[in-house]
Amino acid sequence: MKVVITGADGQLGQCLQDRLSNTPNKVFPLSRRGLDITDTEAVLDHIVAIDPDVIINAAAYTAVDKAESDTEAAWAVNAKAVENLASAANNVSALFVHVSTDYVFDGSSSSPYKEADPVNPTGVYGASKLAGEKAAQQAERHIIVRTAWVFSEYGHNFLKTMVRLAGERDSLSIVNDQTGTPTYAGDLAAALVHLSEALPANGVYHFSGGEACTWFDFARAIFATCEELSEGFNMPQLTPISSSEFPTPVRRPAYSVLDGQRLKEEASVSAGDWRIALLPVCKKVLSL
Ligand SMILES: NC(=O)c1ccc[n+]([C@@H]2O[C@H](COP(=O)([O-])OP(=O)(O)OC[C@H]3O[C@@H](n4cnc5c(N)ncnc54)[C@H](OP(=O)(O)O)[C@@H]3O)[C@@H](O)[C@H]2O)c1
Repeated sequence: MKVVITGADGQLGQCLQDRLSNTPNKVFPLSRRGLDITDTEAVLDHIVAIDPDVIINAAAYTAVDKAESDTEAAWAVNAKAVENLASAANNVSALFVHVSTDYVFDGSSSSPYKEADPVNPTGVYGASKLAGEKAAQQAERHIIVRTAWVFSEYGHNFLKTMVRLAGERDSLSIVNDQTGTPTYAGDLAAALVHLSEALPANGVYHFSGGEACTWFDFARAIFATCEELSEGFNMPQLTPISSSEFPTPVRRPAYSVLDGQRLKEEASVSAGDWRIALLPVCKKVLSL
């Protein structure tokens, strides 16, 4: 299988490369420098030249708060550029695998979101990603996977921020009224590779990291793991706070747990387990 990965330098992009290394697949990792997906002509040229079987789009504008003031850039990458990729995929009859987000929901539910539940994004990032889902559906063969709270040893994410802050502060206040599901980018990468081979029906699927928790719970688990791994780890004192005590330009969904039943039934892909992923990821982040 020839596989193109766009956004190859991001968290998911790098985990996809790790996952696909040492497999018989021929992988074409394209970072933003190699291929800016907003460049319609360059996208078509690259995809026609490579003629892949699968295009996995790991590129996105992911700065949720910045997107409120950088609206045009967010829409260009998260929506318009997805049209470029879907159209190029059609040109070479490739399967288009696209990634979306729990932020397409407003978080007012109290039970895990199913794929067909009504969407209602609360900010520019969520709205642009929702438009990206529609654009991805223009590919004749497409799989759209919504995920949530992505972390890994790569790039920028909550886990790495927590580890950094632990080295700088003795106490931290963490939001305890938003519930979601941390998802290891390596588990997501494995699921996407499996889906590329299993070829389920066109459509939207949910994949996340298993057990639901709050950011406060997640931080506590991260620090417990770091303490277990490193005797000298500075465990900060943690205080649970409400979202109103930590205002952000975009209101985050209070509840954004994704129901992964469809993926399990139709493609035998079970949720990841973020608690299992914590140990190896923290080990790498702490350079142990
Ligand atoms: N992170 C999360 O918590 C989260 C939650 C739910 C869903 N998701 C979705 O999961 C997917 C993967 O997210 P991630 O966490 O791996 O994101 P990430 O680490 O921010 O990586 C995104 C990558 O896309 C690249 N990119 C941005 N604009 C581009 C362009 N015009 N052309 C080509 N590449 C471009 C970025 O390059 P630069 O570094 O140069 O900007 C970066 O390498 C995304 O679709 C995201 O929306 C993420």
